[in-house]
Amino acid sequence: MSFPIRKFDAVIVGGGGAGLRAALQLSKAGLNTAVLSKVFPTRSHTVAAQGGISASLGNVQEDRWDWHMYDTVKGSDWLGDQDAIEFMCRAAPEAVIELEHMGMPFDRVESGKIYQRPFGGHTAEHGKRAVERACAVADRTGHAMLHTLYQQNVRANTQFFVEWTALDLIRDENGDVVGVTVMEMETGDVYIFHAKAVLFATGGAGRIYASSTNAFMNTGDGLGICARAGIPLEDMEFWQFHPTGVAGAGVLITEGVRGEGGILLNADGERFMERYAPTVKDLASRDVVSRAMAMEIYEGRGCGKNKDHVLLKIDHIGAEKIMEKLPGIREISIQFAGIDPIKDPIPVVPTTHYMMGGIPTNYHGEVVVPKDGNPEVPVKGLYAAGECACASVHGANRLGTNSLLDLVVFGKSAGDSMIAYVKEQSDWKPLPKDAGMFTKQRLDRLNGQANGEKVDALRTELQRTVQLHAGVFRTDAILKEGVDKVLKLYERAKNTEIGDKSMVWNTARIEALELDNLMEVAKATMIAAEARKESRGAHASDDHPDRDDVNWMKHSLFYSADNRLDYKPVHTKPLTVDYIEPAKRVY
Ligand code: FUM
Repeated sequence: MSFPIRKFDAVIVGGGGAGLRAALQLSKAGLNTAVLSKVFPTRSHTVAAQGGISASLGNVQEDRWDWHMYDTVKGSDWLGDQDAIEFMCRAAPEAVIELEHMGMPFDRVESGKIYQRPFGGHTAEHGKRAVERACAVADRTGHAMLHTLYQQNVRANTQFFVEWTALDLIRDENGDVVGVTVMEMETGDVYIFHAKAVLFATGGAGRIYASSTNAFMNTGDGLGICARAGIPLEDMEFWQFHPTGVAGAGVLITEGVRGEGGILLNADGERFMERYAPTVKDLASRDVVSRAMAMEIYEGRGCGKNKDHVLLKIDHIGAEKIMEKLPGIREISIQFAGIDPIKDPIPVVPTTHYMMGGIPTNYHGEVVVPKDGNPEVPVKGLYAAGECACASVHGANRLGTNSLLDLVVFGKSAGDSMIAYVKEQSDWKPLPKDAGMFTKQRLDRLNGQANGEKVDALRTELQRTVQLHAGVFRTDAILKEGVDKVLKLYERAKNTEIGDKSMVWNTARIEALELDNLMEVAKATMIAAEARKESRGAHASDDHPDRDDVNWMKHSLFYSADNRLDYKPVHTKPLTVDYIEPAKRVY
């Protein structure tokens, strides 16, 4: 064996909302559970989620879980799996009440019930009017959720490995997952964590783009690890651009601003969303609003001396409401744009925010792959939840606040599935003889490399390439050129160097390893996007402007080893209700 071995019932990679929710389930069931996190868990990227978590509680206006389901299916542009969407929307009220009972400090309405605000694409009666469905803790909902879940895990004796990262999956001769190789980031020491079950909850990978609301740590580690281990990545062509990133900085300004009454204006002072989405206007779903903003800028109605952004006006709701409901975005605007939104509008542009695709799972959190003619066979011992997973509830476009919901609903269901699987096993499955060798080879290559590619420069080139070639609007030619460029960068990344081993911090080594993961995600994104000849949700092609349900209502699966794309059907059978038939998507 190449590295020291430690044994756990379950290993969870990622200490954000999904990882913590799964860990809580496992630890409370008495299983020996390790959570690895690149940062202190309460600093995971879930902390950046601002506006709320969706649930049809109906605390402000009548609401129903099946209306939530309809909105989510429509928001997904009919690429979402309707069984998983029903599962999530039905579970939402209970999941939020459970968080409340754990101590999550939700804002309150007059009656004392949880406060709810409107959000993009959330409507009553199938699109008739906007509805208040986002349960909020001011504009710091993710922050409050993380602290709540972390405290619950401390109480349940979850073991945390803080500033540890996972490197590679260990599969036995049957393909079953029996562990992961991991690195303690401070020392660079590598271990094998031998486990009965492994869950990836590594979050997003927005750092493949130059401009992103994602934290620097969001490098798609779970996806890279799975891609290298032969697991395909699903629906990677679909990336969400959040309409309101601070222009020039990329930092998120919550959609909750528009939920509280904020409006978008072009250089003529026009509330342009009235033209693009006459019913819900600024609260249309994100892909629709982002495209409208990009169009305004493209047609010369952008603001500022470079006409490269639009304005988000909120001053008319009053200082008191801004201070009470949106204190965080006021701070962000002052710090990153030099603007106090109590007085002036915030300059905003669509900014990469969320990856709809990911590691393919079913709604039990099991990772599923095609095998022997069956499109979805569970990989034994392997689970994924949260943004790194594709369940697929978000399809081609996610609705705001469905992400925090996804974390807790699928974190919990993955935890339950893992408990059942772990309890079936009387002992650990043996590690293969060469366990850890692949990781050792990767590290040896880095340590021995001189005069190779510089990690920083390559990462910057990758980010600029993806930004340019997989943006809000796409064409066949732009995508094709993007594929060629990314494939070349991918090859160059096999030759990265970190300098003299004795002279560098481990951070250099970690960044080189993270770059491998970014490369996997970028390659899958470009190739899957180039192949899809239609427009659906966040994938908008000038050359194929219409949705094509006959040929393209299917999920893509990308295999890294041979750059191969495969496809599998969308689930059209909900659990208990009728199929929601495809329709034109208007807001
Ligand atoms: O706009 C926001 O507060 C972001 C929420 C989300 O992405 O779900």
